[in-house]
Amino acid sequence: MSEGDGGGPLVEVRNVKKYFPIRKGILGREVAAVHAVDDVTFAVDEGETLGLVGESGCGKSTLGRTIVRLLEPTEGTVSFEGRDISRLGPRAMRPLRREMQMIFQDPYASLNPRKRVGSIIGMPLKIHGVEKSQRKARVQELLATVGLSPEHYNRFPHEFSGGQRQRIGVARALALNPKLIVADEPVSALDVSIQSQMLNLLDDLQRELKLTYIFIAHDLGVVRHVSDRIAVMYLGKLVELSPAEDLYERPIMPYTEALLSAVPIPDPDLSHARERIVLEGDVPSPINPPSGCRFHPRCRYMTEICKEVEPPLVDYGRSHYAACHHPLNVDRETLERAKVSSRHTPAAADESAKPRDSSGRSDPVPGR
Ligand SMILES: Nc1ncnc2c1ncn2[C@@H]1O[C@H](COP(=O)(O)OP(=O)(O)OP(=O)(O)O)[C@@H](O)[C@H]1O
Ligand code: SF4
Ligand SMILES: [Mg+2]
Repeated sequence: MSEGDGGGPLVEVRNVKKYFPIRKGILGREVAAVHAVDDVTFAVDEGETLGLVGESGCGKSTLGRTIVRLLEPTEGTVSFEGRDISRLGPRAMRPLRREMQMIFQDPYASLNPRKRVGSIIGMPLKIHGVEKSQRKARVQELLATVGLSPEHYNRFPHEFSGGQRQRIGVARALALNPKLIVADEPVSALDVSIQSQMLNLLDDLQRELKLTYIFIAHDLGVVRHVSDRIAVMYLGKLVELSPAEDLYERPIMPYTEALLSAVPIPDPDLSHARERIVLEGDVPSPINPPSGCRFHPRCRYMTEICKEVEPPLVDYGRSHYAACHHPLNVDRETLERAKVSSRHTPAAADESAKPRDSSGRSDPVPGR
């Protein structure tokens, strides 16, 4: 749970853009750019877990990498403990590297197969000048922390299962006592049976070590029980940001509704009652994203305004923000309060906005 110390958020992302240039010809002229992250703003408190969700190619990893400054933002700022780190050089970043670590999706590719576990986990310690005599003891302690045996010190990664390898990745991330961990799909490559063990481990570690997590996942099912808040991304944009439970109870942006409809519900009655919304087509190219609301070509509530005007992220109260001209699950009173401008206000949305597929459970507000 969030337990900020009153001294501001641990991480603050402000209007961050990350574009990757596409170059052509021998002069390497920039002919276009991949808009991987496009004007994203949010903050993460100390001790909090923010789930970051969206389909493949939405820019989750790019945003995660920009936050820990493996990438430099094209525009905007990333602050850590109140300090703008967006443009710090390698030297100035070095002490901060201890504080921010990443856990990667693929436990096979992210561990060097020729190195022993001891040297993999000990590498960050070595880089940061921890003496050899102290390193072994620290690595063995870390192995125990992540539920592996200190005897595994001399083994190679191929001697471990996927779940154990991911634990090695976690131990490596923990080596320097970081404050922030960006976990990029840490359980996606694992069998379902061991995913929950890994999630429990991350949860326990957070409590013991007072960690702050940004937890990246494809689907809303995985992050539900670990996240305090959830951020939904679509094609480089932040489209919904909300306390976790509120997001599951009342998704406001249709993309979130669709992602949520794919999450299995254990209760068969509820599961039967809920419609599964099939998102047609793939995420469009971020090189030339759709006009207006980027989700409009795939949205069943789309009207003319959606093609023309980009919906801003609107505050619907209780720290729930969403970007949509035809918000779902919002009562008229809240909608009135949420008016932002005559051009952007969701209340000005077209009354005809209704799901094209009429079996939809939730109607956008103007149609209620
Ligand atoms: N180094 C790069 N150069 C050019 N384009 C890139 C680079 N890294 C990412 N991209 C592009 O940026 C977009 C966002 O990619 P990103 O990996 O951040 O998405 P993602 O949400 O993490 O997807 P996935 O769920 O598949 O991991 C994609 O279109 C991707 O092809
Ligand atoms: S209703 Fe319009 S603004 Fe809202 S998600 Fe659909 S296309 Fe975007
Ligand atoms: Mg990714």
